[in-house]
Amino acid sequence: MADLFTRPPRLPLIAPSILSADFARMGEECRGVLGAGADLLHLDVMDGHFVPNLTMGPALCASLRRALPGAFLDVHLMVEEPERFVGPFVEAGANHVTFHVEAIGLEACVRLAERVRSLGATAGVAINPATPAEAVLPEVAAFDLVLVMSVNPGFSGQAFIGAVLDKTRAISACLRPDQRLEMDGGIGPGNAAGVREAGCDVLVAASAVFGVPEAQRTPVIVALRGSR
Ligand code: DX5
Ligand code: ZN
Repeated sequence: MADLFTRPPRLPLIAPSILSADFARMGEECRGVLGAGADLLHLDVMDGHFVPNLTMGPALCASLRRALPGAFLDVHLMVEEPERFVGPFVEAGANHVTFHVEAIGLEACVRLAERVRSLGATAGVAINPATPAEAVLPEVAAFDLVLVMSVNPGFSGQAFIGAVLDKTRAISACLRPDQRLEMDGGIGPGNAAGVREAGCDVLVAASAVFGVPEAQRTPVIVALRGSR
């Protein structure tokens, strides 16, 4: 389980973002999407500074870890000072932590990735839609995962920015087989094929999964995964 990203049993992996779940029924919602075929849970952590929204902290991660001991928890830190939060999130049961190159720069991201791995989790670096691939490519070997944002982070339910697919292909060409390429924002059954074709093998979706009635979540997850 801890090595889901580095040694995946199948690809692509489908990662519902709990940002669009019913927060009052979080355990049930998460158990439901994992039962409906999702591979892992994506936790969108926002600090009201790096992005204009506030979401969740390590306490929610710890509650999910207690409720779902076998779930893979992928934490996406959209915060100004990720160094302050990787420890608390891994302590709270995160299996993977991603932080943004725009927040601290590439060299600090490399050092933070080493720290995350020393704590027993895997580490990813994220880039916003306007950030070029060159912002991460010089050190891309240092990360277990690269996350390309396909919306400007902050809110679920935004429109997919297709212009990110070109740089995604360029990043894909530079990755080893044990490295993952994740895309996040505006992904649904209608555009997932293009995301996969650009080389992404971890697809995040919040509103496309949690925004439909429970009976429709399995077909949505199947559609996101495609026929591979
Ligand atoms: C960006 C977050 C995403 C986002 C996805 O704000 O990192 O995970 O909420 O939401 P959808 O899939 O609804 O665009
Ligand atoms: Zn995210």
